[in-house]
Amino acid sequence: MMTITRPGDLWVIGPHRLICGSSADPVIVANLMGGERADLCISSPPYLHQRNYLTPIGDWNLLMQRSFALLPMCHEGQVLVNLGNVHRNGEVQTYWLDWLEWMRTQGWRFFGQYVWDKGAGLPGDWNGRLAPSYEHLFHFNRTTRKPNKTKAKRPGSIAYYTGKGMLRNPDGSKGKVSNKAAFLATHKVPDDVIRVRRDTAPGLARNHPAVFPVGLPMEIITAYSDPGQIIYEPFAGAGTTIIAAQRTGRRCYAVELQPEYCDNAIRRIQQVTGLVAVLDQSFEWFEVPNWLELMNLPLVEREECTNDNAPPDHVVI
Ligand SMILES: C[S@@+](CC[C@H](N)C(=O)[O-])C[C@H]1O[C@@H](n2cnc3c(N)ncnc32)[C@H](O)[C@@H]1O
Repeated sequence: MMTITRPGDLWVIGPHRLICGSSADPVIVANLMGGERADLCISSPPYLHQRNYLTPIGDWNLLMQRSFALLPMCHEGQVLVNLGNVHRNGEVQTYWLDWLEWMRTQGWRFFGQYVWDKGAGLPGDWNGRLAPSYEHLFHFNRTTRKPNKTKAKRPGSIAYYTGKGMLRNPDGSKGKVSNKAAFLATHKVPDDVIRVRRDTAPGLARNHPAVFPVGLPMEIITAYSDPGQIIYEPFAGAGTTIIAAQRTGRRCYAVELQPEYCDNAIRRIQQVTGLVAVLDQSFEWFEVPNWLELMNLPLVEREECTNDNAPPDHVVI
């Protein structure tokens, strides 16, 4: 299949970057980052061999080890990885266990484990199991970064402290409250059950077999990064994390192996965000932006593109 993206291409999409290649390839990751470091990694790698991607996954552990060995994170960086359940021969496959242990050997603490509540299970025959409605989020770090208080508290729960704390001591008695001022805060830390309904993959996202909803990376991005910071996405798929970063004012640097998926991701990002993708270095457009066609301007030949011809960063079509 003919694609616009070629292996190795680095697309600049407003403040975001998408490179076509393997996140297990040190040259690809170095080209993507250009010497910068990420503050947060949020990603959904292939779930073992659950889906048929254009290139088969091969050895899952090897892919994960090679990709995560190259994490371009700053020292304080937080790494959150979404994986789903897989069953084979009547048994749950805990395929992540060896990789979790390997992460610890690389200096990454297995810091937290969260649940993504995808909403009510779908009707169907689940081979004797209850209908699936959750997935996992594994949280790694080298040092603790307090999450942002992104969730508004119920108005009735914002009050002066009057009684004992909610947490119990080992003997069952209620403990003291360490931070009474927190009772007056209007916002709180998000729950470790992240409630985001699964997408029905509208529009261009349909072109990818395993897309997570934009709301899922948005929850993680707003909790564990600040505006302007860099989000690393080593398995970009349909570009969902880039859209989430755009919606939250962060920059996403992403890798996707398949040129076809890169093309689809760019079309989706352009359509959803109004940003325009250009090739790094040459500033060639991914596709001629609609606004040029609409204005009936003469098109610049690709070979003649110079920096001056590059479209502005934020063009709303
Ligand atoms: C579960 S999907 C990610 C979907 C993404 N979360 C989204 O919502 O758009 C995993 C993606 O990883 C890609 N992939 C597989 N091996 C890769 C590698 N070595 N480097 C980069 N991407 C890879 C696959 O092509 C697939 O698009």
